[in-house]
Amino acid sequence: MDKIHVPVLLNESIDSLNIKPDGFYVDCTLGDGGHSQAILKQLSSKGLLLSIDQDSFAIEFVKDFYKAQPNWIIKQSNFRYIDKLVAEIGRTPDGILMDLGLSSRQLEESHNRGFSYQEDNEPLDMRMDTNLGVTAKDILVVLNNKQLAKLFLEYGEERYCALIAKTIKENIDHINTVGDLTRLIYKVVPANNTIKNPSRRVFQALRIVVNDELDSLTETLDRSFKLLSKNGRLSVISFHSLEDRIVKTYFNDKAGSGEGELLFKSSIAPTDTEIEQNSRSASAKLRCLIKN
Ligand SMILES: C[S@@+](CC[C@H](N)C(=O)[O-])C[C@H]1O[C@@H](n2cnc3c(N)ncnc32)[C@H](O)[C@@H]1O
Repeated sequence: MDKIHVPVLLNESIDSLNIKPDGFYVDCTLGDGGHSQAILKQLSSKGLLLSIDQDSFAIEFVKDFYKAQPNWIIKQSNFRYIDKLVAEIGRTPDGILMDLGLSSRQLEESHNRGFSYQEDNEPLDMRMDTNLGVTAKDILVVLNNKQLAKLFLEYGEERYCALIAKTIKENIDHINTVGDLTRLIYKVVPANNTIKNPSRRVFQALRIVVNDELDSLTETLDRSFKLLSKNGRLSVISFHSLEDRIVKTYFNDKAGSGEGELLFKSSIAPTDTEIEQNSRSASAKLRCLIKN
């Protein structure tokens, strides 16, 4: 992939952090580094940015692509360990950003991890951090029919979950690649005008479970909020309703208890122009919580 990931809601998310040049900021989701670079541009030499990504290929790309800077620390880790990483630095964050999900690079240059349902020949892996033990194929093998159906319903909101799960279990010995799985799903859920690709929801569900995405989001929101300085800001860009529900509920609770304040009454969505230029931004929602 020769293009770099286009950062979503870039101006809106950076503005929401209200960056102080001497402040300390954490970008929990480095990706191709677009948001991190925009933060760095606003920092003085006394300012500091910690960027985290659990994908070692993302870290390698960024270290290769951008010049090292003394006020930019890059760590490979799950963002759920943010408190440990911040403790090592010994400063209090003034702003924390999370831009959830996958980068375009992970979809288009996956290093054989099968994130995209369009990459027919890749194995069903889906681990962002390849040091983790369980792959998508392992999950298809280990879970029974009922458990798989529940997973597709809960994490993919897939209404054909039972039929898909049953067909997968009947054919499990022949499912090794992305193409094996997508062809099977096509047979039981034919594409129509409303379902562009019937594999999308199943892939979302498997990816969420392989990477334990919703639990790590829930834990990290609370850890991040606790770490922030007074008036510090936690900005989160989510891409599907399961993520947004967790963010919205947490932010509303903190606003309700008086511990925080919402920067925006509702979520911020990309403009029509952004969606035209970058279709991947279409489902993005930005929320920001200010610590009281
Ligand atoms: C949408 S991309 C971020 C793109 C980035 N903002 C940019 O401008 O290029 C999300 C990134 O977050 C990383 N990621 C997702 N969940 C993570 C987690 N729990 N811990 C650390 N990194 C995570 C992914 O590996 C991916 O590189």
